[in-house]
Amino acid sequence: MKIIVVGGGGREHAVIKKLKENPKAETIFALPGNGGIAADAECVNIAATDIQGIVSFAKEKAVDYAVVTPDDPLVLGCVDALEEIGVPCFGPRANAAIIEGSKIFSKRLMQKYGIPTAACEVFEDADKALAYLETAPLPAVVKADGLALGKGVIIAQTREEARQAVIEMMRENKFGKSGSRILIEEFLEGPEVSVLSFTDGKTIKPMVSSMDHKRAGDHDTGLNTGGMGTVAPNPYYTKEIAERCMQEIFLPTVRTMQAEGRPFKGCLYFGLMLTEKGPKVIEYNCRFGDPETQVVLPLLSGDLLEIMQAVTEERLEEVPVEFSDGAACCVIMASEGYPLKYGKGYPITIPEDLRDKVYVAGAAQKDGQLVTSGGRVLGVTEVAEDLPAAVKNAYADVERIRFDNAYYRHDIGERALKA
Ligand code: AMP
Ligand code: GLY
Repeated sequence: MKIIVVGGGGREHAVIKKLKENPKAETIFALPGNGGIAADAECVNIAATDIQGIVSFAKEKAVDYAVVTPDDPLVLGCVDALEEIGVPCFGPRANAAIIEGSKIFSKRLMQKYGIPTAACEVFEDADKALAYLETAPLPAVVKADGLALGKGVIIAQTREEARQAVIEMMRENKFGKSGSRILIEEFLEGPEVSVLSFTDGKTIKPMVSSMDHKRAGDHDTGLNTGGMGTVAPNPYYTKEIAERCMQEIFLPTVRTMQAEGRPFKGCLYFGLMLTEKGPKVIEYNCRFGDPETQVVLPLLSGDLLEIMQAVTEERLEEVPVEFSDGAACCVIMASEGYPLKYGKGYPITIPEDLRDKVYVAGAAQKDGQLVTSGGRVLGVTEVAEDLPAAVKNAYADVERIRFDNAYYRHDIGERALKA
């Protein structure tokens, strides 16, 4: 089979490595991939958002299957466009990807069908939002409606911060059109859990739970990032909570999307907060999480390509989705300064025996050498019998991977170990 994987981060590297376990995946093209992915797939310099370019390439190479992982191409209708030329895809069509593409859409969906989530008000007018903030409860959570590279959520502790967020989003167009409509949400408290799931629009099969570490600094200090590390499973997510989530959140979401004429096929990601009043949805993503994928897929005991094809062909019910009993930890090595300014072009050394465990995100090939090219450079994942061993081994690996200006958190997994 000739397969294209759209995207070029650590998540895509993890997807590609897992797909390759199936000998049917003879040729994998990564669009655009990156300097590290090049060891596992043929990288083609077509941007993940260049839908026309992706379609032309798929036609030219007569590809058999496409896996579309990032949010932007999904929201832009990459799957719709590929299906139009007859390429079967893993990933939702645009009318279902809107579950991530518009937070107002997903909030109204949850309200309409009674899926537990934070209470909220929607604003299309800055004056009205500012007036509401005069008496709104604090902290206030201000969210841009559309995609904003993971930066469209501000947790404002004071009225002034909340006002500032509204002004930046609605008047100064910090996130372009994505911020022309906003939500102001109730602040929820409790442990956060990420649950990725496979769904074909009818059946839903959750993957092992995980925990992200979003802040740049140790002990959850500093700026929000794309994610500085993950562990799986998430110890707060007990069997009882999982069953409750299935009944109150997962099944209703899938049925609701079906009922709305927007069947969701692909990976549906539930960002959950386990509050005193039960689990609530913080956000939906229409795709695999990054770096959640880097701990979830290494624990998958089944065949990823088979599962994905079952999703595409709406026969997920027939295919088992099972995970090994162990635990996994992924530590992200970033460039010092991320998520703000950082240097690039530093040579990276990865010991040969770690190659299988490294998922490359921000690196390029230069004169035959892998060099840093992004904020999050790579992640290293260890799978072990239990979480303490996975964490210990992942950090031992980090010590052996070298590049100038490397920065990483020292406490990935600490919170999970205390649970
Ligand atoms: P997002 O960019 O949507 O993933 O949100 C970023 C982070 O903001 C989440 O991981 C949560 O930690 C936090 N967050 C979002 N909504 C709420 C809320 N209603 N209450 C508390 N924290 C929230
Ligand atoms: N790690 C969070 C996300 O992928 O949105």
